[in-house]
Amino acid sequence: QSILFVTSEVADFVKVGGLGDVSSALPRALAAHHDVRILVPAYREVWQSGHHVRIVGHVPAHAELPACDIGEIICSDGLVFYVLICAELYEREGGPYGTGPGGYGSNGWDDNDIRFARLSLAAAEIASGNAGLDWKPRLLHLNDWGCGLAPAFLHWRGQHVPSVFTIHNLAYQGLFDASRLEPLGIPPDAFHIEGVEYYGKLSFMKAGIVYASHVTTVSATYAQEITTPEFGCGLDGLLRCKAEQGRLSGIPNGIDDSWDPRTDAHLVQAFSANDWRGKRANAEYVRHRFGLVPSSGPLFAMVSRMVHQKGVDLVIEAAPSIVQAGGQLVFIGSGEPRVEAELDRLAERFPGAVGVFTGYDEEEARCIYAGSDFLLMPSRFEPCGLSQMYAQRFGSLPIAHRTGGLADTIEHGVTGFLFDEVNQGSFMQAVQQSFSAYHATELFYAMRRAAMTGRYHWRQSIAPYTRLYRKLIEEAHHEVQ
Ligand code: ADP
Ligand code: GLC
Repeated sequence: QSILFVTSEVADFVKVGGLGDVSSALPRALAAHHDVRILVPAYREVWQSGHHVRIVGHVPAHAELPACDIGEIICSDGLVFYVLICAELYEREGGPYGTGPGGYGSNGWDDNDIRFARLSLAAAEIASGNAGLDWKPRLLHLNDWGCGLAPAFLHWRGQHVPSVFTIHNLAYQGLFDASRLEPLGIPPDAFHIEGVEYYGKLSFMKAGIVYASHVTTVSATYAQEITTPEFGCGLDGLLRCKAEQGRLSGIPNGIDDSWDPRTDAHLVQAFSANDWRGKRANAEYVRHRFGLVPSSGPLFAMVSRMVHQKGVDLVIEAAPSIVQAGGQLVFIGSGEPRVEAELDRLAERFPGAVGVFTGYDEEEARCIYAGSDFLLMPSRFEPCGLSQMYAQRFGSLPIAHRTGGLADTIEHGVTGFLFDEVNQGSFMQAVQQSFSAYHATELFYAMRRAAMTGRYHWRQSIAPYTRLYRKLIEEAHHEVQ
């Protein structure tokens, strides 16, 4: 099947979090079975990537959305990218959503409504065959709020192209003032509770959920959680409805072959299960890099966007006890300035035992997964989470809240530790269990081995996506007839 996969970030060019990884890996995994091509804005990084861009199409202006060319990039592995070219919208110093790191929020660049409505409408135009390309997808696969308006535009234009809308994080919704309908070229009568209206605002996320043929999210547990008021971010009623119609499902993310400690060239030393000396070499490197003193105690790590979702406040509070019990901590990530400042204070308070790197560095992140004994991931909610899968693959046992994808990918006491409540007591209990395991060396090594052999490859997601695509394409075919 021909599928257009639309995304606001892709690790080949620019990545803020897990969506970037997924957008790079999933289409490649699907490519064996489908003709999948990616549509992404032509950010500055796209031009800097050194790829040849050939102009192959064009989309006209619509309301205040400017006309754009569409470029084509063919990667060395054959994957085709369409890039939406508009210098004024996409070629900027800063991230895909704004200048500040750490979020998928709509509250970054002032014109994010225009930028991502433009992306959405370009996807709809390509699907309708109006972009001048010599290729037309039979289905759109859309990801998160940045492409949420695509199925809506198709609907408003009476185009019956089926679409899958994948929610990677319901908390970032793309909410804008109602006065923005007109500049975005949204029909005014779509602004009602069964359309794009969300508590008086325009919601891109809701548009995606309402108008897509099917909604997926990235783990079975999160698919269930978002139908409850606790996790539903105000959209749980709508999502319950979708679930009742059989139009909401969870398909887990996976990890790709580049995450392999036996072959990863970024590591100080490659290693395999049982080769703990190789793993130790990475730990030594991490300790050295983060200014920690040599130690035979456990090394805890946090590799994360440093935002409220990720429960970094719990880790900061637990840090003194962890250090006192003989543990050390390293943090890598950026996010909310207040959290970053607290982390810096923590490092100052515990020199040699706590190390912090504020920023984004994939190579260091890989060394940290490889060098640490435990990964801390007390996320309040976690749609899927990739870090805990990477960590397990690299023999770092995750300590995580039993929620979303974390609950689905970590086996308590076997490949990591899960705790039930987001509070200090519950979290500390899991941390204590991790200390006990660490000191029971044989058990600890057995857990590491179990974690490293876990199967979270993308292969397992291909069959469910393929079934879904096929079903929706058939449905659309019957509708047209
Ligand atoms: P989310 O998408 O919510 O940020 P995920 O666990 O799905 O969470 O994905 C996070 C991704 O970002 C992982 O690939 C992780 O390794 C990476 N990452 C997070 N922070 C950093 C950082 N500071 N440096 C490098 N990689 C990071
Ligand atoms: C989101 C979620 C994360 C998920 C990622 C990729 O950013 O926060 O849990 O793994 O998307 O689907």
